[in-house]
Amino acid sequence: MSIHITLTVISLLVTKCISEGTTPDQVHISFTGDMTEMAVVWNTFSEVSQDVTYGKTGSGATSTAKGSSEAWVFGGITRYRHKAIMTGLEYSTEYDYTIASRKFSFKTLSNDPQSYKVCVFGDLGYWHGNSTESIIKHGLAGDFDFIVHLGDIAYDLHTNNGQVGDSYLNVFEPLISKVPYMVIAGNHEDDYQNFTNYQKRFSVPDNGHNDNQFYSFDLGPVHWVGVSTETYGYYYEYGMDPVMTQYDWLKRDLTTANSNRAAHPWIFTFQHRPFYCSNVNSAECQSFENRLVRTGWLDMPGLEPLFLQTSVDFGFWGHEHSYERFYPVADRAYWNDPNAYINPKAPVYLISGSAGCHTPDALFTDKPWPWSAARNNDYGWSIVTVANRTHIRVEQISIDKNEQTVDDFWVIKDEGHMHSGEMRRANPGAKFPLQKCHFKDVACKRSLKEINEEL
Ligand SMILES: [Fe+2]
Repeated sequence: MSIHITLTVISLLVTKCISEGTTPDQVHISFTGDMTEMAVVWNTFSEVSQDVTYGKTGSGATSTAKGSSEAWVFGGITRYRHKAIMTGLEYSTEYDYTIASRKFSFKTLSNDPQSYKVCVFGDLGYWHGNSTESIIKHGLAGDFDFIVHLGDIAYDLHTNNGQVGDSYLNVFEPLISKVPYMVIAGNHEDDYQNFTNYQKRFSVPDNGHNDNQFYSFDLGPVHWVGVSTETYGYYYEYGMDPVMTQYDWLKRDLTTANSNRAAHPWIFTFQHRPFYCSNVNSAECQSFENRLVRTGWLDMPGLEPLFLQTSVDFGFWGHEHSYERFYPVADRAYWNDPNAYINPKAPVYLISGSAGCHTPDALFTDKPWPWSAARNNDYGWSIVTVANRTHIRVEQISIDKNEQTVDDFWVIKDEGHMHSGEMRRANPGAKFPLQKCHFKDVACKRSLKEINEEL
């Protein structure tokens, strides 16, 4: 009798586990590049075939998106990545979708929207996610149309055999099942298995390389480009091929975008490691591995010359756990006059890496670089408003100050304006100390006093 009861209990437990294992979790949506489509990715812990049924809200499920399923193993745990693409969507329309009896919804943007808002941040953890509640609250209230996460996701996606990544995505599921979640990898996405967790957990627009590391999409007046700085940061781990594969793609993408300004007058890039910063933590922006991203090294091409050649308008960066806004800057030449953000003569860059990291507040050098326009090391996140073809607004929301706006600025440019090489050469730039020692040399780290003296 007792054996029977025990077996029954075990059977119920097994059934329960299998049932739980097939329940979709970590459900999130993202753009495919075609705005009549929406990708949805979810996870199960058991092998199961699942599709997505969807239809206009109030009309019931009228379509089915076939789900693909792929097993992947990390830390001894087998997970099943599922992906489906909802197609044939109408603009400005609410849709309901269902995966294995779990119900979600989202709303499509208008056709070629000329104005919209984007939530931009980097460096947000499952633990110490200081901005999480605020971002979810504002997202569910409809305060932005999609999210750009500038790398360093969950701290880390792979921690505790990937269970921190699972928990993070489940916490955000109410928001990111409803609002597209566009990501790019940071240094914390390297899981010692060539970014496996990052590759398997997300979906981005196709770049022709079956790779989530870089991609672009057009939305209204903006051509958005996600760039991996980690191909540079981890080149000693994974070699030069990822650097050059991305660079070749990026050169083509930016060149094409630059010739397509009539349709999309702005080019926005987003990436993890910055070109410039004035934080004191290990002199990050002067350290060898981070300078590679901007300047390149030997045969390795850096990104800044390409951004200048193709007249990139905006660059959003994370990695530094703070907020910093820069004046238009080109290879250390800068324009800091009061009208610098009107028809900028060089790209405008912004660090928004203070969403909620695993370390305390980031400290700044006593004196900023001359091209640094504003700094704030409160926890927080940014909201970018694409107002129209000529006006862009950025606001920085402080969590420490009860969601007060601590920075607010506009970038304005005339139709057809592009910063020119001739203008860049007009300013000789500022003295910029070079970090010559190798990045693996810990003696390379400089003290705050040394950095301030150099400034
Ligand atoms: Fe980072």
